[in-house]
Amino acid sequence: MPEPMELAYEERGSGPLLAFVHGFPLDRTMWIEQLKGLAKIRTCVAIDLRGHGLSVDEDPVDYSIDMFADDIVKTLDAIGADKVDVCGLSMGGYVLFSLWRRHPDRIRSLIFVSTKADADSDEAKAAREKTAELVSQQGMEPLYEQLAPKMLGAENPGVLDAFRRMVLDVPAQVAAADALAMRDRADSTGDLGAIEVPTLWIHGDKDQIMPIDAARTTAGKIPSCRFVEVAGAGHLSAIEFPDAINDALRDFLKTAVDGK
Ligand code: MLT
Repeated sequence: MPEPMELAYEERGSGPLLAFVHGFPLDRTMWIEQLKGLAKIRTCVAIDLRGHGLSVDEDPVDYSIDMFADDIVKTLDAIGADKVDVCGLSMGGYVLFSLWRRHPDRIRSLIFVSTKADADSDEAKAAREKTAELVSQQGMEPLYEQLAPKMLGAENPGVLDAFRRMVLDVPAQVAAADALAMRDRADSTGDLGAIEVPTLWIHGDKDQIMPIDAARTTAGKIPSCRFVEVAGAGHLSAIEFPDAINDALRDFLKTAVDGK
């Protein structure tokens, strides 16, 4: 595995640290409304995973979800943060599971958004390889065209524009490396019952990529996990419905984390 890398991040607010981990193929800017909305209660840190946004990587090869988790810990060390609340959307959620397995002492609470715990099926693994091939040969635009119709709960040109900008900003080689990292990720379903930190799971009822019923079942296997359904939200719930996501985060942090 490549050596851990210190990542770029955007910070706002004060108080205990709350780190945000973006999805695929996105960057830290997907969390801008969370940074604005939660800065009064947390030092909010939106991270660019390796190769994304400002975490430039000239040689994006051999990516893995575990590598992303170790990069985050190196970054927390550089910030001087010990235990953190950590929130990840979709691929960011995969990174949270790895963080929990590899660095449990660094986690105060977990917030999973629009994600899942299981590994890829053989069919999904083959699709990852097609994605890696597609972006390597044709760049990011065809991937955007493929994903765009499935990402939102309802039409929202502003959110789709923001999504397009983020997708096209990701270097194709990085997106290919991400796709292969997701293909090879561990199955986290066996770990669910052992998660002891306060946990929140947020999911849109219109998520076409990861349907809410399976998410509810997964969250039900995590002891004391709260589940918040966001009515009308698709896969990009945090961008589509920032106020609902911020309210859920605020309430969880206040009552399940700070209240403890
Ligand atoms: C994401 O939003 O990060 C992706 O949908 C994750 C995936 O493709 O499994």
